[in-house]
Amino acid sequence: MRRRSDRVPPHRPSAVARRNLALWERIAREYEVRNARALRRADGAAWGVWRIPERQLRLLDDVRGRDVLELGCGSAGWSIALARRGARVVGLDFSPSRLAQARQRMRRAGVEFPLVEASAEGIPYPKARFDLVLSDYGATTFADPNRVVPEVARVLRPQGVFVFAHASPFRTVAQDLRADRLGRRLIHDYFRTRVIRDLSDPSVEFQLPYGEWVELFVACGLAIERLVEPRAAANARSSYVSTADARWARHWPSEMIWKVRKLPAPAPRKIGR
Ligand SMILES: C[S@@+](CC[C@H](N)C(=O)[O-])C[C@H]1O[C@@H](n2cnc3c(N)ncnc32)[C@H](O)[C@@H]1O
Repeated sequence: MRRRSDRVPPHRPSAVARRNLALWERIAREYEVRNARALRRADGAAWGVWRIPERQLRLLDDVRGRDVLELGCGSAGWSIALARRGARVVGLDFSPSRLAQARQRMRRAGVEFPLVEASAEGIPYPKARFDLVLSDYGATTFADPNRVVPEVARVLRPQGVFVFAHASPFRTVAQDLRADRLGRRLIHDYFRTRVIRDLSDPSVEFQLPYGEWVELFVACGLAIERLVEPRAAANARSSYVSTADARWARHWPSEMIWKVRKLPAPAPRKIGR
């Protein structure tokens, strides 16, 4: 029987989630085809636009027997890789088309785990359900961090870990949205960096200044363990970015990967003597 605290109220996706869902439904096929090689790098266990293998970055603890949630799993490359390592995985994405791709990849890989169609703004699981939540440019990029990070903190067990790859604030302030390229000037107001609109599309991405990321983690009871700022290798190529942007990323971090850990619940305070 479900305890009262286990009940999760049904969630209505925000207007932003509905707009971004329309984008992902439209581009799901093209995205999967264009990035097919990148998505299979290191058998799916690779981070960010440079696809740096997890075995090199070592961000994850041992996942054997752990409950893992991938937020915005897309075709579930990460989830498949972690299931193969013995994790009990759930892949969550709001896009039916992307989940269909995940099902296909799972069949090919001979791996089974639940796939959940939901928005990360309201994770349909009770509190303290997972040991690890990860997102590789997944829902944390496309949903407001002020809604997603508290949700992640809620579903994590004490000592559980949240690892996610995201564009860096450097990239955000230097991105010329009209020309769709990164430049050497700071174009956008760093302090007003919140919602990034692609000018050719009604979809949006999110960003926070570094200090606000830190404040948000602290407010949610998440302690920072690592902030990795991958540098593009010389002559790096990526199906996600142009060659010019790859050159830019030799000099400034184009992305960041946070690892934060949920603090244990404070011991109950004794009242009186
Ligand atoms: C750039 S892809 C990254 C996914 C995966 N790492 C990959 O490369 O296939 C972003 C994914 O996040 C999903 N997504 C975006 N916003 C979401 C939200 N609010 N809730 C759940 N999934 C979301 C999209 O449907 C898409 O599959």
